[in-house]
Parts: sequence; structure tokens; C-alpha cells
Amino acid sequence: MIRKLRHSDLDQVMEIEEKCFHDAWKRKDYEYEINDNPYAQLWVLVVDDKVIGYYDLWVTFEQAEVANIAVLPEYQHRGYGKQLMKHLEQKAMENGCETIGLEVRVSNADAIRLYESQGFSVINTKPGYYKSNGTYEDAYRMMKGI
Ligand SMILES: CC(C)(COP(=O)(O)OP(=O)(O)OC[C@H]1O[C@@H](n2cnc3c(N)ncnc32)[C@H](O)[C@@H]1OP(=O)(O)O)[C@@H](O)C(=O)NCCC(=O)NCCS
Repeated sequence: MIRKLRHSDLDQVMEIEEKCFHDAWKRKDYEYEINDNPYAQLWVLVVDDKVIGYYDLWVTFEQAEVANIAVLPEYQHRGYGKQLMKHLEQKAMENGCETIGLEVRVSNADAIRLYESQGFSVINTKPGYYKSNGTYEDAYRMMKGI
């Protein structure tokens, strides 16, 4: 089941975030998204009464932006990422968006494959977009028209 993220989900979301990302968002980043970002729509995927995935979609008029998406590592490669992508595309459409965009590390093969399978294309490369511990990595900018 995919439902709106509640504040009480944050412990589970933070567990997934920390397992999935070296440069994980902090709890205060999620607090901001929930309480203060008027463009953010946050949803969680619940399996066996446990939050195992989520996404944060920024809806800004005709454009939607995938700000974050993750699935708990032990639940990956079972189609849940695809389920979240289909759901966010539906939400983007319901909000009247014409495009969905996102950035992804050029080394993130799993995510890039998922996005390509959902009709996203690389439109350019952003050099040194990701910085962590003094190292830089390029990002692909990917887009899909809906
Ligand atoms: C990117 C991410 C969200 C994808 O989630 P996922 O749940 O693994 O995605 P899916 O299961 O839908 O698809 C992944 C693969 O599983 C395969 N798969 C789907 N259902 C399957 C099933 N029932 N049995 C076996 N394989 C299956 C898909 O075909 C796909 O294979 P491919 O990568 O070889 O094409 C996940 O890898 C993740 O959280 N990564 C860390 C966070 C991250 O990098 N987020 C993106 C930031 S831009």
C-alpha cells in the first residue's frame, strides 16, 4: 500500500535513508519537507505493516521533480521501486504536470536502469553535482514528458 507520509513514519524513513545513501538527508531535512516545503508531496510504501520505501516529489506548476526515492535494501529488486515510480507519475499527472525531472549519480546503475525502464532519458550531465567528503561525482539530468 502507498499512502501519504506521516510524521510518525520518520524513524523508519530515516533508517532507510541511512542504509541507502552515503550523503543521507538528515531528520531536519525531512521535517522541512513535511512542514515547510509547500511543493513537496511525500508518500511511503508499506509492506507487512512496515515502511519499506518512500519518495518525495516536488510539484511546481507544470513540472514535477523527484527530490528523493528509496527502497530498503533487503526489499530491492522486487518491483517496489517501479511501483513508487508509477505512483509518482500518476500524482504528477493528477497535478497537471507536463514533465518529471530528476538527478542521479552517474554511478547509480540500479536507479538509472529503473528510470530508463519508466521512460526517462538522460538530457545532460551536471559535472561535479554531488559532493561528499571532498570528492565530486557527476549527475545525469533525466526527464520524462507525461
Ligand atoms: C533505485 C531504487 C529505488 C530501485 O528500487 P527497486 O525496488 O530495487 O526497483 P525495482 O525492483 O522496481 O527494479 C529493480 C530491478 O528489479 C527487477 N525486478 C522487479 N521485480 C522483480 C521480481 N519480482 N523478481 C526479480 N527481479 C525483479 C527489475 O526488473 C529491475 O531489474 P533491472 O535493474 O535489472 O532492470 C533502489 O535501488 C534504491 O533505493 N537505491 C538506493 C537509493 C537510491 O539510489 N535512490 C535513487 C536516487 S536518484
